[in-house]
Amino acid sequence: MQMNELLNRRTFLRTTGLGTAGLLANIGAAPIVAKVRTNNVGDFLEIALQATAFELPLLPGTWTRVWGYKGSVLYGDPASLQTIQGPPRNYPVRLSNRANLQAPPRPARPPYSYLGPIIKVRRGQRVRINFTNNLPEQTVMHWHGLHIAPETDAHPSFLVAPGQTYVYEFEVANRAGTYWFHPHPDGRTGRQVYNGLAGLFVVSDDEEAAAGLPAGNFDIPLVIQDRIIDANNQFVYQTNNGMMGNDGFLGDRILVNGRPDFTLDVARRAYRLRLLNGSNSRVYKLAWDDGTPLTVIGTDGGLLEQAVQRNYVMLAPGERVELWVDFSGRESGAMMQLRSLQFSGAEMGMGMGGSQMLPNGAPFTVMNVRLVGRTGEPTPPPTQLSTINRYRMEDAVNRNAPRSFAVSMGTGGMMGGGMRWLLNGRPYQETEVAANEIVRLNTTEIWELANNSTGGMMGMSMVHPIHIHGLQFQVIERQIASPMTTGYETVRYGYVDEGWKDTVMMMPGERIRLLLRFEDFTGMYVYHCHNLEHEDAGMMRNYLVRA
Ligand code: C2O
Ligand code: CU
Ligand code: CU
Repeated sequence: MQMNELLNRRTFLRTTGLGTAGLLANIGAAPIVAKVRTNNVGDFLEIALQATAFELPLLPGTWTRVWGYKGSVLYGDPASLQTIQGPPRNYPVRLSNRANLQAPPRPARPPYSYLGPIIKVRRGQRVRINFTNNLPEQTVMHWHGLHIAPETDAHPSFLVAPGQTYVYEFEVANRAGTYWFHPHPDGRTGRQVYNGLAGLFVVSDDEEAAAGLPAGNFDIPLVIQDRIIDANNQFVYQTNNGMMGNDGFLGDRILVNGRPDFTLDVARRAYRLRLLNGSNSRVYKLAWDDGTPLTVIGTDGGLLEQAVQRNYVMLAPGERVELWVDFSGRESGAMMQLRSLQFSGAEMGMGMGGSQMLPNGAPFTVMNVRLVGRTGEPTPPPTQLSTINRYRMEDAVNRNAPRSFAVSMGTGGMMGGGMRWLLNGRPYQETEVAANEIVRLNTTEIWELANNSTGGMMGMSMVHPIHIHGLQFQVIERQIASPMTTGYETVRYGYVDEGWKDTVMMMPGERIRLLLRFEDFTGMYVYHCHNLEHEDAGMMRNYLVRA
């Protein structure tokens, strides 16, 4: 296919939208346009992606209604899309939206997960995603962690109406790492992600290849989420909406890669595990049940320079961590558990809701690991994983007066009388940017974030994972104010601040300094709490990058 044909088609999609039937027909069947294979499709990838409602068997009995992303490759390497459990399979699914007039019969081999495809790309690759919204409500896609322009990021104001198509197109500038995509409509993000809309976006590059990490079947993505599942096998979205605003959602069922009671079979050798906390509000304190330390090789923005060891790792909503695990010394048939350990100081409020069943900080099993097969040689991680270009404090234009942002709760909610989550002292307004939310292109800055939600009672003492769109940053300092810090000792040794981050967990009373640099793109991005119920309840703000 010629480039001008691609461009014409893009214009067509943008201006006319694409009929629902056309896009649906494409899923798992013939693509919209003829696939052209050449020996060199490496630099361009075009995919069709739709958000749609469907059902899948999650537990014995009634199928579970979910929303999910379904994709197919239109141009480029077909292996660029993988299902979360392995190589691509074209599962027919029972579509339950309004286009479901000729639903295919229930498949013999059902769809494994509600999670979207893993999109695999290389750094420098051009990617075009023809996204069609087949949901009954508006949505917008967000590419969490990617350094791209605001129109493709996408700011919550770029809504896609039901039946409409939107083309996201960008060049992958990020280094190798585990990024992800999910919806971002203001006020509806929590519910849409909860229904199942999320997928991984995995970037590879030459530096990563040189590190020689476990690949293929030994490179395993693990998306951790929690749900409440009712007696009829349906997801229940019951947020903890108390007097003091919406605390969040906590489920009592832990799902890994979209499956409850997840067991991972591993060979007795070294693995790379890529973990994403895709939960709405739950924070995990991850550890092996037998006390083996975790060997961390990567964070939100890719590989660390050197592996670091932790007895446990804190993983807040939106964060990723990559582990090196060497199972070679273990017995065949042995079982291990990845656990979330007890911690305190991050309890949620007193309102009614799921949090009563399995509170934040309660201990539980995340997944089982079963060792199978012959043993290999013990393998330590490479001594040098990558090179990180450190920002320098003296290069920050505001080094003498860092911008400071308060993460807190305040008035201004429903009827003016309720409480709301605030960021920088204000709730989200689609077009509003405060004076201290405007930055200059090509500058480095220090941002200081303070979690002031330390009321300690009535749901005001809360952990907040703060996420900044459009870039990766470096955490240079953490401070904790006493005395509202009783739980701090139970989490503080599980932070991994050595690498690139886009989401940073903050305990009540904690104050964090970040170094960030605004490059390549101007326009409006958001920063927000990645507790999705906090985000939906106003804990999100714009920041504007000006030339
Ligand atoms: Cu993963 Cu603005 O979010
Ligand atoms: Cu994001
Ligand atoms: Cu929050």
